[in-house]
Amino acid sequence: MFKIVRREELVASSVILHEIEAPRVARKARPGQFVILKATETGERIPLTMADTDPEAGTVTVIFMVVGKSTALFAGLKEGEGYVDLIGPLGRPTDIEKVGHVVCVGGGTGIAVLHPIARAMKEAGNRVTTILGARTADFMILKDKMAGLSDVFIAMSDDGSTGKKGFVTDALKGILGEDRPDLVVAIGPVPMMKAVSEMTRPEAIHTLVSLNPIMIDGTGMCGGCRVSVGDKVKFACVDGPEFDGHRVDFDGLAQRLKAYKKEEGSAMEAHHCRMDAQTKTLEQA
Ligand code: FAD
Ligand code: FES
Ligand code: MG
Repeated sequence: MFKIVRREELVASSVILHEIEAPRVARKARPGQFVILKATETGERIPLTMADTDPEAGTVTVIFMVVGKSTALFAGLKEGEGYVDLIGPLGRPTDIEKVGHVVCVGGGTGIAVLHPIARAMKEAGNRVTTILGARTADFMILKDKMAGLSDVFIAMSDDGSTGKKGFVTDALKGILGEDRPDLVVAIGPVPMMKAVSEMTRPEAIHTLVSLNPIMIDGTGMCGGCRVSVGDKVKFACVDGPEFDGHRVDFDGLAQRLKAYKKEEGSAMEAHHCRMDAQTKTLEQA
């Protein structure tokens, strides 16, 4: 068992942090890599990026949003409980180099994925500007950590409850005009990564995005995670998850992410029914 040593609710019941004992993975992992987790023997294999690692303590940290049956099951795991499987580190690590001015753009739980990359970019001697976007202040995870490691930090929210009201692209527009980046790293919802890439394309600013297609094995065998990049088909689990944003077919990716919506909805409903039945049984006992 891979024991959970720390559990935090970063956003009540919907964004959960698990620090998990996995010493060998913690020693090998590099920024940008992910793990595949299973909560039960017959459970779904769920890819999650390592938001942090502690080689000395032998732990990896994941931060996930509850969006369906398996992440709801994961959210129910408490400190002291654990995962039956944790496979990793998977995927290619981010190329960390000193390039000059790096602008890191994060949205939603993409901020968790961005965190180790932004930190490594800073440690490599880059000047780091970070722009984070969230629906409301409550959903802006890791704000203090990201602000602490950045030379310039800008928060944007849909309702203005933290930072400025508006989208990350509004803030990026200002930076492109004033302080040209040498590299942009954008991680978040597909429409956000697409919008950032469209903005940097005319300026020819290299833009890295991290793609989250549906993954099954995570080792290049099943083809489930295929994405079109330029005129080539790539497997995000072994060729990525990071790609040149100017070459990614974001519309194709968004389409494939919706492929099992109906089945995922039924699985979530069945999960809720089971949880309700369990609660009733416990109340009657
Ligand atoms: P479901 O109801 O089954 O699915 C909800 C939606 O999640 C689907 O419509 C689909 O778009 C997506 N999804 C479903 N199954 C998978 C799957 N096997 N692989 C990928 N996407 C799937 N989420 C986070 O919150 N934090 C992370 O750090 C994070 N890192 C990721 C890293 C990688 C490399 C990938 C590929 C995905 C990552 N995700 C992350 C997304 C996460 O894996 C999905 O949210 C999760 O699998 C949903 O499972 P579910 O059963 O709860 O939801
Ligand atoms: Fe199977 Fe990538 S997840 S090939
Ligand atoms: Mg699922």
